[in-house]
Amino acid sequence: MQEKIRNIRSEFTKDVEAVADIGALEDLRIKYLGRKGIMTGLMSGLSSLPKEDKPAVGKELNSLKHYIQDQLQQKKGALSRQDKKGSERKIDITMPGILPHLGTKHPITQVLQEMNDIFISLGFSVVEGPEIEREFYNFEALNIPLEHPSRDAFDTFYIKGDILLRSHTSPVQIRIMEKTQPPIQAIVPGKVYRPDAVDASHSFMFHQVEGLMIAKGIKFSDLKGVLGLFTKRMFGEKTKTRFRPSFFPFTEPSAEVDISCFMCQGKGCRLCSHAGWLEVLGAGMVNPRVFEAVGYPPRKYTGFAFGIGVERIALLKYGIDDIRLFFENDTRFLEQF
Ligand code: PHE
Repeated sequence: MQEKIRNIRSEFTKDVEAVADIGALEDLRIKYLGRKGIMTGLMSGLSSLPKEDKPAVGKELNSLKHYIQDQLQQKKGALSRQDKKGSERKIDITMPGILPHLGTKHPITQVLQEMNDIFISLGFSVVEGPEIEREFYNFEALNIPLEHPSRDAFDTFYIKGDILLRSHTSPVQIRIMEKTQPPIQAIVPGKVYRPDAVDASHSFMFHQVEGLMIAKGIKFSDLKGVLGLFTKRMFGEKTKTRFRPSFFPFTEPSAEVDISCFMCQGKGCRLCSHAGWLEVLGAGMVNPRVFEAVGYPPRKYTGFAFGIGVERIALLKYGIDDIRLFFENDTRFLEQF
């Protein structure tokens, strides 16, 4: 009898392992614990045993029954967990797909990268400088003394003492010259800040690309050549460039640079306010006083510098009439580029 009980236990263990679904498990339960099942048969066999064997065999039968009940219960749990996982993983391939929302580069970033690429192709390297600057770099070293009226044009946000937000990228000219001896050929893209009231053409923050080229014998014609190439690549091969006399304390002589209107080819239209020309940047030959401020030997080098407003270029390039659109972060606008 005891051997039979052991055999049934190991048989059941194999059976329960082999069960793969709830239906088969129920069949197994009936086979062992059902009214006409194996356990019932064994229990009824108990009565025909000699009296002294009954308690021991009865105990074993009970333990087998508990074992079977336990195993069935555990298997049931395992099967239903599997079932749940399976249904979670089920994929309905007939459902329409979900298109992930793809971002685009901000138009200012795109134009900035395009500008960088043009100057890189001309041999310029890209340098960056701090947006939080010292008064010395933003003004004095650039020949803009405290009492000079041109300081108004570059007025800025002061943070504390002589710490301010740079109002142009020109201070990085000084930082480059302090660290490097000529020849220098670099551009400086970055953000600048001015305490201007915001309107269609003004923003308290905008971007510039500064250019600086210094060596022995750099001439104004080199400046004209570089900027002429830049404007042609940016606005098309037919673009003409015009230099008008201007004033910046850190360049001498200085110029404002216009391009022929690419909308009307100079005939006059709404974009160029019927002038035929569009102003795009400021430039000039580096003032010897700037070389003096950074300690370069007198009269050894010459160079040119320019500063281009990135928003201005982007507004013209895309025919946008309000600078605020760039900073409102309305994706209906930004997604068009
Ligand atoms: N820093 C000038 C500005 O912000 C532009 C400029 C740069 C002019 C370099 C001349 C040379 O308006």
